[in-house]
Amino acid sequence: MTERPILFFDSGIGGLTVLRETRIFIPDRKFIYIADDAAFPYGNWEEDELKSHIIDLFAKLLNLYNPILCIVACNTASTLVLKDLRRAHPDVPFIGTVPAIKPAAEQTRSGLISVLATPGTVKRAYTHELISSFASKCHVRLVGSAKLAGFAEDYLRRKPVDRASLKQEIAPCFVEKDGHHTDIVVLACTHYPFLVNLFRKNAKWPVDWIDPAEAVAKRALSLLPDADQVQTLTEHLDLAHFTSGRTDYATNRLLHGFGLRLTPLGQE
Ligand code: DGL
Repeated sequence: MTERPILFFDSGIGGLTVLRETRIFIPDRKFIYIADDAAFPYGNWEEDELKSHIIDLFAKLLNLYNPILCIVACNTASTLVLKDLRRAHPDVPFIGTVPAIKPAAEQTRSGLISVLATPGTVKRAYTHELISSFASKCHVRLVGSAKLAGFAEDYLRRKPVDRASLKQEIAPCFVEKDGHHTDIVVLACTHYPFLVNLFRKNAKWPVDWIDPAEAVAKRALSLLPDADQVQTLTEHLDLAHFTSGRTDYATNRLLHGFGLRLTPLGQE
């Protein structure tokens, strides 16, 4: 029997921030990385359309790859379809990536936290429920950016990024209220950790930037069968598939750096 892979899913290269962390905790499992770049950016889609689009795509992906575990490495998708995916495929464990509002509320000293995400994620009922369940005592600023995920796509492909515009996009994260300042910014889009050094350089003051990737990776490890906790490296190739069918040099090179080989859908 061929080894069942762990499937990672995002609208683009953002999920690689979760994949690289998961590789540290799970070095031996085969990984399949799916980027639905034909539909990028998810952040601007209407909820109902995006929901049925992702559900249809997952039906195909599960059929093709028979994964042992799916990591939805995208906040915009997780906050929308996680429950539906679990309901439609009760035999496959799904792990989502959702805004790290709970840890931010636990760690803030000033009581002012910001959530930097796509326009889709800041609108989600799921995000608002997280705030009322875990951060009702904090002042939470939701900042939706339609540009930053695209900037991350360009940045990793060595294309220029407009620094002034990036600075403008993150500026609303910095709130001053009654002498207190925002001290935590939640990176609630998996693309954003790739830009964190640029965020630091363009921040109005120093803050902690929270990336949930490590927590997601630990959760993934905890859901695997016990045998996976023992390291038994076997030779295999980790694959990536982009729904647009893109095969450009910059993308190939980038994926190579993450130990992934670009292949057509379903092909090993
Ligand atoms: N990486 C995705 C997320 O975590 C979003 C990027 C997009 O807008 O497609 O939300």
